[in-house]
Amino acid sequence: MADRIARALERERVDDVPRLARLLSADAEARGRFRRSLAVSHTGLFRDPGQFDLLERTLLPPLLAEGRRLHVWSAGCSNGAELYSIALLLDRLDALDRSFLLGSDLLEENIAQARRGEFAGTEMPGHLRRQLRWERRDLILEGAPPGHWRLILCRNVAIYLTRAARDRLHETLTQALAPGGVLLLGRSERIHEPRRLGLERVAPHSYRRCVA
Ligand SMILES: C[S@@+](CC[C@H](N)C(=O)[O-])C[C@H]1O[C@@H](n2cnc3c(N)ncnc32)[C@H](O)[C@@H]1O
Repeated sequence: MADRIARALERERVDDVPRLARLLSADAEARGRFRRSLAVSHTGLFRDPGQFDLLERTLLPPLLAEGRRLHVWSAGCSNGAELYSIALLLDRLDALDRSFLLGSDLLEENIAQARRGEFAGTEMPGHLRRQLRWERRDLILEGAPPGHWRLILCRNVAIYLTRAARDRLHETLTQALAPGGVLLLGRSERIHEPRRLGLERVAPHSYRRCVA
């Protein structure tokens, strides 16, 4: 954060943080540039493959066995590679038709790329693209989209937040889970006191919302 602020001071040619703050409140374009510099959008299809193995072998089977529609939300989805990976997995498990998949991200340009559904020159199949929904959403300011999600992926988003913002985000994500729903964080992330939030740890970086 300190590094991005230092760069913004240089880029916007302002002398100190209060002046930068005033500029960012007044100028939407400068705000957009600052936001883009803060949001690290690194992602990829089947990023951290071990987590997709975990999904396929451990996390998805009980959710799919319930027989109900599977609502999946990729929170901080970047260019959509994460949600396309889940869609490819569900397609292989013959469960795509009974799934509702939403990806949301802070940056409009990431959402535009996700809608295009093209990775390294390869277009995602039409039946997959038609199944996915996308929206721009600031997780901190706007919280979760309506609904009770049975699987939420929020990987490699909270690592860029302060401890307080991270805790608030974990609470928001927990509230958005359906009872019994599962939250999957990134490979370097954990929730310190899951029980306090009404979560139980079910596998590495994975938490289930306790049924009341
Ligand atoms: C490193 S990428 C992670 C992408 C994907 N989840 C993955 O693990 O491959 C982090 C994403 O979080 C998004 N992000 C950062 N702050 C956000 C916020 N407040 N609300 C929504 N998305 C945010 C960024 O725009 C970026 O696309």
